[in-house]
Amino acid sequence: MIKYDKNFFHITNGKISYVIEISRGRYLFHRYFGKAIREFRDSAPLQGLDRGFSPQPAAWENERTYSLDVLPQEYPMRGHSDFRIPAYEIELPDGTNIVELFYTGHKIYNGKPALKNLPASYAKENEAQTLEIYLEDTVSKIKATLIYTIYEKFSLIVRSVRFENFGDKPFKLRQAASFAIDLPDHEFDSINLYGGHAAERFIERKPLGHGIYEVASSRGASSHQQSPFIALARHETTEHQGEIYGFSFVYSGSFSAKVEVEQFGTTRLVMGLNPATFSWQLDGGESFQTPEVVAVYSDGGINAMSQTFHEFYRNHLVRGKFQHELRPILVNNWEATYFDFDAQKISELADCAKELGIELLVLDDGWFGKRNDDNSSLGDWFVNEEKLPAGLKDLAEKVHARGLKFGLWFEPEMTNLDSELYRKHPDWILRVEKYPMSFGRHQLVLDLVRQDVRDYLVEVVCKILRENPIDYVKWDMNRHMTEAFSLTLPPERRMESQHRYMLGVYDIMERITSAFPNILFESCSGGGGRFDAGILYYMPQTWTSDNTDAVCRLSIQKGTSYVFPPLTMGAHVSVTPNHQVGRVTPMQMRAFCAMLGCFGYELDICKMSDEDKELVKKHIALYKKIQPTMQLGKFTRLLSEENETAWQFTAQDGKQVVMTYFKILSQPAHNLRKIKMAGLDAEKIYKLTTYVPPKKLSVDGGPQDTSFEEKDFYGDELMYNGVMVEKVETDFAAYMWVFNRVD
Ligand code: DGJ
Repeated sequence: MIKYDKNFFHITNGKISYVIEISRGRYLFHRYFGKAIREFRDSAPLQGLDRGFSPQPAAWENERTYSLDVLPQEYPMRGHSDFRIPAYEIELPDGTNIVELFYTGHKIYNGKPALKNLPASYAKENEAQTLEIYLEDTVSKIKATLIYTIYEKFSLIVRSVRFENFGDKPFKLRQAASFAIDLPDHEFDSINLYGGHAAERFIERKPLGHGIYEVASSRGASSHQQSPFIALARHETTEHQGEIYGFSFVYSGSFSAKVEVEQFGTTRLVMGLNPATFSWQLDGGESFQTPEVVAVYSDGGINAMSQTFHEFYRNHLVRGKFQHELRPILVNNWEATYFDFDAQKISELADCAKELGIELLVLDDGWFGKRNDDNSSLGDWFVNEEKLPAGLKDLAEKVHARGLKFGLWFEPEMTNLDSELYRKHPDWILRVEKYPMSFGRHQLVLDLVRQDVRDYLVEVVCKILRENPIDYVKWDMNRHMTEAFSLTLPPERRMESQHRYMLGVYDIMERITSAFPNILFESCSGGGGRFDAGILYYMPQTWTSDNTDAVCRLSIQKGTSYVFPPLTMGAHVSVTPNHQVGRVTPMQMRAFCAMLGCFGYELDICKMSDEDKELVKKHIALYKKIQPTMQLGKFTRLLSEENETAWQFTAQDGKQVVMTYFKILSQPAHNLRKIKMAGLDAEKIYKLTTYVPPKKLSVDGGPQDTSFEEKDFYGDELMYNGVMVEKVETDFAAYMWVFNRVD
């Protein structure tokens, strides 16, 4: 898959090609990333031009057509003759930042190396091939290894970089990007996923313009505000056709993705750790490994990019027992009770859950210390005896006795001023000496750079998990970092704190999750504030957003699905009026919307009307019939408009296809909607076995109303002619069609 011939590396798997040239024996030029080329013979050679104010490197002083400022770089350095954004920057002991990393050799091998202490995609030896390109600066004694992996089955490459100091004087990495690329034009729209708390991953698409555009987080978390993802799509690219590059960073802390359109109209993209919150001292003999970037190329539109990410992350990033398992239908008590619960109330919820067919009860925030609001007790991981006088074990056993699984909430990374933990260890937090600390939700961030703090947390969390029958853990994280320094580090290393903190999080996640392989872990950060590929390596699902309103969720889940598969997204039905936006939507819309992901409920199910309870039972019965298709199948966004959304879920074996359609506001004099399905077998017949329009609510999995008849269609008709949506006569309309293929 990886060929080296006459100074060209051609990384290809028959789906994509990625080409790098070694120029003049020392520089690496980026030459191609796109649809596969059978053999790269350089049909479009680089043209040297004498461009004003674009200098030459020293060795080519008299060759005015050889400037790094003009030629496409693979991993650009700062300060020699390229004025565009660099991929790395190194501060030397003499205070300058000029280094030169030149090609010295390479190695190609089967498989993919693990990245020490970092989350990373993985492969068996026969599934992927890796290229390591070695660069060296013999003056400053620096080595860099560019690591590229291509998988046999995926239209993507994975890249990271390892730096080494092979001298004896320390230097500082001020920037160490994981990925850089120079594309020959700028006829692209950038697409990023922006938002805020309870409003994550809205899609923003706009044409690139000259200058530098950055999508970043400096919050110590990948963040609600920007997702560690950026795409470059051709202007004409749609969900279903056209070229797009998607870049996803496998990391959960501060990051930066910069795009520069420079003077000659080419585009450079650089992605990695955020240089604004990062620096790393490398002493002689030490090395530094960056996290990795997954770069997808698709010429089949945005859906094809997403489907590649979904398949790849499900099969080569998520690990453990639950990787391919259907997830239990849960009820979480957060929106049902907030902090106001006791053992009696939770037992009642368990009774109601049992009656409705729910499989897992999750006890959220407030079960520990003296926690009755969000001002206290984080870190005091022992049971709140006022609320649960008979203890956690007793409660968990009672839930189990009803045939339900039991889940528990933690926020291990934090503490409060008002906590036993903080009173005992006031020095265990991230802080600076001379300035006061800022607060977020009254909490402080524990210094996970410290081994003793990490060991303590692993011990207390594991103790609870050992001593109580717990099947699921929700791991929350509810503030971003300020004054984010570990005072245990020497002054010259304190800028390492944010990244070391993340390595600390990964360390405790690895130790806790691997000690309890039978517990299903869900990550959370005030909803989807750390919904990223880094965390998914440790925990197979993430709470998508604190916003449970179905209308908002349509767009939050749509944006999330650009990169992450349904099986990773927690999605719950909540009460109306909705607690975040006050909207009233029908149960059917809330349920069909939540069925996109790890389906559950988050409301006081005991207080529901009898009619709603009957509906919930029917929805659960329906869901059980389609769950493998919804959670393990292929996901396609058929329609992504502001007022209308249609999603398709196709079972892995193609035998069942579920389509959902939502229309937020009903309209007068509107065009009737026909939805064209996708990816069906044109020659096979699909039988419509279940049809659930709004307001006709007999959803027991069979025909839904008297007018329903089982109908058969060939796949080609469903794809090319489409399915007509009955006239929508209500706001917040949700429909479902279930087809079974006749083989
Ligand atoms: C934020 C989470 O996203 C919520 O679901 C809930 O667990 C609260 N934290 C509890 O404090």
